[in-house]
Amino acid sequence: MTEIRVLSDEAQFRAHATVFRRAMHWGPPTDEQWDVIRPSYGPDRVLAAFDGDEMIGTTQSYASSLVVPGGAVVPHAAISRVGVRADRTRRGVLTALMREQLSTLPDPVASLRASEGRIYGRFGYGLAGRWRSVEIDAERAVIPGGMTGRVRMIDAEAADKLLPELHETIGLRRPGQIGRWPGWWTRARDRRGGADSSATVVHSGPDGDDGFLTYKVSEVKDNRYRMSIQDFVWAGEDAWRDLWIYASRLDLVHTIEHDVALDDPLTWLFEDPRVVRTKDVFDEIWLRLADVPRMLSARTYGTAEPVVIEVRDRLLPANDGRYRVSPDGAERVEAPADLVIPVDLLGAVYFGDTTFSQLAAAKRIEGTRLADADALFAVDRKPYCGTFF
Ligand SMILES: CC(C)(COP(=O)(O)OP(=O)(O)OC[C@H]1O[C@@H](n2cnc3c(N)ncnc32)[C@H](O)[C@@H]1OP(=O)(O)O)[C@@H](O)C(=O)NCCC(=O)NCCS
Repeated sequence: MTEIRVLSDEAQFRAHATVFRRAMHWGPPTDEQWDVIRPSYGPDRVLAAFDGDEMIGTTQSYASSLVVPGGAVVPHAAISRVGVRADRTRRGVLTALMREQLSTLPDPVASLRASEGRIYGRFGYGLAGRWRSVEIDAERAVIPGGMTGRVRMIDAEAADKLLPELHETIGLRRPGQIGRWPGWWTRARDRRGGADSSATVVHSGPDGDDGFLTYKVSEVKDNRYRMSIQDFVWAGEDAWRDLWIYASRLDLVHTIEHDVALDDPLTWLFEDPRVVRTKDVFDEIWLRLADVPRMLSARTYGTAEPVVIEVRDRLLPANDGRYRVSPDGAERVEAPADLVIPVDLLGAVYFGDTTFSQLAAAKRIEGTRLADADALFAVDRKPYCGTFF
C-alpha cells in the first residue's frame, strides 16, 4: 500500500535526496554534496511515497514564478527530484505522487524538465518549449563592429551577491523564463566555485548592469579550449550582442557551446553564418496548467475570431469545461465547442511553440476553426527558459 507524506525534517530530506539520486543511478549525496543540496529543501513542498516505513518514491517543487505570453508573471511550481526506487517501478508509485502533488499545488502552473518524453503527458504536462543546442566555431567567428556598452569580469564572491538580484530585474521578460529560488543559486554558486571554476562577466549599458554571462572553459587538447555557456541572461539586444562579442573574442577558445531559443537570431550576428552549427533541438519546458481558467486569463491573445475550446483534464476535473478565447481574453462558457483538447496539449500550445493545426494534422486533437485558434495563440517570440533545474 503506497502512502504519500509531506516531509519536513533534515533526515527525511537527505533520505529523499538519496532515493531520488538512486533512481537516477547516482550515489547517495556525500556530506560535501549535501551542503550544496540541502538549501533546496524546505517545508511543505517535498513529497515522498512510503510502503510502511520505507521511502520508495520522491518528488518536490520549488516556489517560483513564470512569464506568460503578454508579459504577466504568475506563481509557478518548478517540479523536480522525481524518482521511484528501481525495485518498485511500474506499480503506480509515481501516479500516486503526481496526483497528490497536483491536487495540493498552491500555484496555478507547474513545469519540469523530463528525463524521458513518455513519462509526463499522462499527468497533464505538455511539451511547451524547446531549445536549440549550438556549437560556434570561435576561430572563424567574427562579429562586425564594436561593443556599445562595457563588460567586466567579476569574482565568485561578487557573483554570489550580484547575480540573484540582477536576475530579479532582468530575468523575467521573455515568456518561459522563471524566477529562481535560493537553493537554485546555491547550486549555481557551487558550479562557480572551486579550482576548476567558471567565470562570470557582467554587462553594463546606459542604465547600469543589464546582462551577465557565466561560462566554463576546458582544455580539449594542446591549448585548444572549449567554452560552455552555463548561464546567459540579458535585458536588451545591446547586452546580448556585446556579451557574444566578448565570448567570440576569448583567446585560446576554438569552440563555444550553448543552448539557445529556437528563434534566437545568433546566426545573424556573425559575418559568416556557417560558424553557428545546430547540433540538436531538444525539449526544454514541460508545462502543466493546474488552474486552466486562471492560466488562460493570464496570457494575451492575437487577433482572430473567438474560438470555443473544450478542455479535458482527467486528474484535475475542475478544469474540465469550455472556454471562449478571443483577443480580449478567455472565459468559461456553455456554448458548443469548436475544438476539444486534453490539458497536456493545451500546455503544448500555451506558449505558441506548437500550433493547434500541427496537433490536428498529427491526429492528436479534433475540431474546427484551427486557423483562428492558431492566430489567437500566436506569439512574437518562441518560449525559452534558460534556467535548468
Ligand atoms: C519515471 C519513473 C518516476 C516512473 O515511476 P513509476 O512508479 O514506475 O510510474 P507509474 O507506475 O506510476 O507509471 C504510470 C504509467 O506511466 C508509465 N511509465 C512510467 N514511466 C515510464 C517510462 N519511463 N517510460 C514509459 N512509460 C512509463 C507506466 O508504464 C504506467 O503506465 P500505465 O498507467 O499505462 O500502466 C521511474 O521509472 C523512475 O524513477 N525512473 C528513473 C528516474 C527518472 O527518470 N525520473 C524522472 C526524472 S524527470
